[in-house]
Amino acid sequence: MVTGATGNVGRELVRSLAADGARVTATSRGITADQVPDGVRPVRADLTDAGSLREAFEGADALFLQSGGPSAHLIDPQEIVATAKAAGVTRIVLLSSQGVATRPDSASHGVVARAVEDAVRESDAHWTILRPGGFHSNSLAWAGAVRSARTVAAPFGDVGLPLIDPADIAEVAAVVLRDGGPGGRVIELTGPALVTPREQAAAIGAALGEPVRFVDLPRAEAREQMLRFMPEEVVETTLGILGEPVEAELRAGLGVQDVLGRPPRSFADWGRRHADLFRGTGA
Ligand SMILES: NC(=O)c1ccc[n+]([C@@H]2O[C@H](COP(=O)([O-])OP(=O)(O)OC[C@H]3O[C@@H](n4cnc5c(N)ncnc54)[C@H](OP(=O)(O)O)[C@@H]3O)[C@@H](O)[C@H]2O)c1
Repeated sequence: MVTGATGNVGRELVRSLAADGARVTATSRGITADQVPDGVRPVRADLTDAGSLREAFEGADALFLQSGGPSAHLIDPQEIVATAKAAGVTRIVLLSSQGVATRPDSASHGVVARAVEDAVRESDAHWTILRPGGFHSNSLAWAGAVRSARTVAAPFGDVGLPLIDPADIAEVAAVVLRDGGPGGRVIELTGPALVTPREQAAAIGAALGEPVRFVDLPRAEAREQMLRFMPEEVVETTLGILGEPVEAELRAGLGVQDVLGRPPRSFADWGRRHADLFRGTGA
């Protein structure tokens, strides 16, 4: 049973498990049959209402759990885990966040995600916690401006982070769900190298075959823009990670090689695979 099945990680995971012959139930609040591969059972469910997950858990022995993104503070992780257990789930892979360790005092990045981790840890399931850093796909926030003006405007243009490909996270999750390995593991996941927003803009341009201009946004301006769609605490922590990453947020190459036996994919690779989302005109 895969939660967040229409998201950047969940979508790839569903595809990979189904291609491998697993029986998969894919859930999100708005999922539809045309969003999943043939043979996958789509079930609408809301993580903030654990009871709505019961139908999705029917027949499941393994759960890929993510915390509901912006509504994470509204979920009851213990109830979700109890509902999963009552349905027969014996294995849980949790998509958490590196912020649990690096920003432990942040309500959004640390405390809420830690509560979900604790519920999974305290269950008697075979559990694995994945703690990725920032995703390559966060750059999709720039897609409208790249399509309409071939421009990326972002703060901290020259601060690099070891961003990770969501497809690599999904592949790691698929291996752990299928093969298990030792339970009780926390696996940090980061990309192959530090990549700056300016380099990301250049990589998107290279994938498009057209230059993409980079505009370094002052912090105050970035903050104002982010406040339009994120709570203040999330904005402050996010700006902290993007602008003043702590040492533990700068470690590249964590996890993927160990689990998959190959290096993590680069941002340039992600850009080439997603170039169509940045192509064309109009926002
Ligand atoms: N982006 C990063 O840099 C980053 C870094 C570290 C960790 N993470 C974690 O990774 C998670 C997944 O990221 P992503 O990029 O795959 O997310 P995403 O693309 O935004 O997808 C989120 C998925 O969760 C579903 N969802 C959201 N709220 C839900 C709810 N209340 N109940 C049920 N389903 C819900 C969405 O579908 P519906 O809208 O249809 O429900 C969608 O399928 C995030 O939640 C975050 O905690 C992200």
